[in-house]
Amino acid sequence: MPVWGEVISKQQVSDLIAYLRAGLPAVPTAEPQAIPSGQGPAVEGAALYVRDGCINCHGPNGLGGVPNPQSPDKTIPPLSGVAFRKQFNTDAKIIAVIRSGSVIGRAPIVSMPHWGGIIPDDQLKALVAYLKTLK
Ligand code: HEC
Repeated sequence: MPVWGEVISKQQVSDLIAYLRAGLPAVPTAEPQAIPSGQGPAVEGAALYVRDGCINCHGPNGLGGVPNPQSPDKTIPPLSGVAFRKQFNTDAKIIAVIRSGSVIGRAPIVSMPHWGGIIPDDQLKALVAYLKTLK
């Protein structure tokens, strides 16, 4: 067992504790992004796509290409393009997969999280409206 006193001094420990107790500074940019209303569902969906983090996995404009090296496809699928629209040719199919998620393997394989009960129905519809604007 290492003795803390050898690694970091008692003074440093109490400085750290004082620092932590003082609380972290407020980060002005950490406010969640406002979701625009009154500009139609596609605009709302575009903002949700960013706020809910879809963009981190499916890329800007649903272009895909984010590496998922141990998955069968090697990348996270796009949410745009002919193949996507052929497979997900109804709103109901798109909403169903967003709700249920899709586990394709254990970590470090990245799977589709399930959002049922997390994203309300009107926002799911807005996300679909946005996805349908993608080429
Ligand atoms: C942690 C990464 C991750 C996040 C975040 C994520 N997805 Fe996914 N998504 C995936 C993966 C991986 C798949 C592929 C699942 C499969 O092949 O069965 C997928 C599949 C999909 C599919 C079906 C497309 C296909 O070809 O299988 C849709 C639609 C989808 N996601 C929409 C969304 C939406 C909308 C959001 C945001 C609310 C979102 N995803 C967030 C990883 C993610």
